[in-house]
Amino acid sequence: MKKILVEICTGTTCHVMGSEAIMEIRDMLASRFKDIVEIKATSCIGLCRERNAEQAPFVKVNGRVVPEANLLRVTQMINEIERGD
Ligand code: FES
Repeated sequence: MKKILVEICTGTTCHVMGSEAIMEIRDMLASRFKDIVEIKATSCIGLCRERNAEQAPFVKVNGRVVPEANLLRVTQMINEIERGD
């Protein structure tokens, strides 16, 4: 199965908007994801300037942007990618 890379922005804007809580996703993933999902904290990925900062925190899942990210939205994106959507 292909790897899924979750990049959680921990730059200032995303941090203020709650990105740190998303790091907990590591403990919440279904066991089938444990070996295929890699979770990385990143510095600002620029989306707070390119898009509306109010859409922070931003997460990328295999390059797909998840705005207003939270545990549910990121988990949904991981599931979509796993299904091949
Ligand atoms: S701080 Fe997250 S995109 Fe800039």
